[in-house]
Amino acid sequence: MKKYKLALVGATGLVGRTAIKVLEEKNLPISDYAFFASEHSAGKILKLFDNDYVVQKLDEHSFDSGFDFAIFSAGSDIAKKFAPIASKHNCIVVDNSSAFRMDKDIPLVVPEVNPEDIQNNKGIIANPNCSTIQAVVALKPIDMKYKIKRVVYSTYQAVSGAGQKGVEDLKDTLNGLEPKKFPYPIANNCLPHIDVFTEDGYTKEELKMINETRKILHRPDLRVTATTVRVPVMNSHSESINVEFENDFNLDELKQILKDSPGIILQDDIQNNIYPLATNATGFDNVFVGRLRRDNSVPFGINMWVVADNIRKGAASNAIQIVEKLIENSTSSML
Ligand SMILES: NC(=O)c1ccc[n+]([C@@H]2O[C@H](COP(=O)([O-])OP(=O)(O)OC[C@H]3O[C@@H](n4cnc5c(N)ncnc54)[C@H](OP(=O)(O)O)[C@@H]3O)[C@@H](O)[C@H]2O)c1
Repeated sequence: MKKYKLALVGATGLVGRTAIKVLEEKNLPISDYAFFASEHSAGKILKLFDNDYVVQKLDEHSFDSGFDFAIFSAGSDIAKKFAPIASKHNCIVVDNSSAFRMDKDIPLVVPEVNPEDIQNNKGIIANPNCSTIQAVVALKPIDMKYKIKRVVYSTYQAVSGAGQKGVEDLKDTLNGLEPKKFPYPIANNCLPHIDVFTEDGYTKEELKMINETRKILHRPDLRVTATTVRVPVMNSHSESINVEFENDFNLDELKQILKDSPGIILQDDIQNNIYPLATNATGFDNVFVGRLRRDNSVPFGINMWVVADNIRKGAASNAIQIVEKLIENSTSSML
């Protein structure tokens, strides 16, 4: 069986370190790994399967030795500069940043939702925004059955979504120190401000959720709006999602569809206070869905509560699932 070579760019960050854990768990047919970061982390040692790897400074020659795949988790600027270099060396890049997500020639993929789009890649595949990934995993199966008319997102996003510096800001501001990452102390606050504001009053995070949802679901005209909020939670994003359908639906059937769908765990037993929680989602790759109920303010609508680990399903695990699919596709084309 062919063994593959994989590079991790941004290996020392929150997403990169989690990717290492997920790679160990999945044990894919990969024989060679290389870990890249900035000059600041060059020389650090990272462990994978009990082997020590020296972190290398990323540069223009990092991909000369020929990798099959690279997972980039080092922000947009790095992705824009180095992903094209990697793909020129026949290395397929899965990028966690927002650099390429809305490029019409670059697939934006959640394996449970639009795995077929992977085939259209020309060397780069974009991993969606963390808050979009968990939302579309829940929306896709109900859209297939009932055709969604409109979506309203309200998010409650963990500080780990802002990387290591976000985590430090929560710890610091809980101890009365000044924030360095967020504009206000995240301790005891909910900040309706993720990424920068745009001219029409939305933040870029909100526009990411709106535009990426349409692209992944192949519903370019879907009506979607979003309010994204950073909350003082260490890890795992929670989302209230209000969905309006074109036609009537059966709530029990809808719950069953979600329960039977890939990647979803239905936790919807209010008699016993069972519903998704950030602390319970952390460490898992599933999307947890609950609090399903009719929205009585419209003819055919529901509300639901959707929680997932933003570093795992929202970034590292989704990217590795894409690599897994690429390996499956290349193995089946060799048969
Ligand atoms: N956190 C999340 O929930 C989440 C979810 C989805 C997508 N993402 C995306 O994933 C990416 C990483 O996020 P994160 O949360 O892991 O951030 P992070 O904890 O701040 O880590 C950033 C990583 O990028 C590396 N890096 C910075 N400058 C570099 C350079 N010049 N050359 C090479 N590597 C460089 C850092 O290396 P050093 O150690 O050397 O500084 C570090 O490994 C971002 O694009 C983010 O938008 C994050």
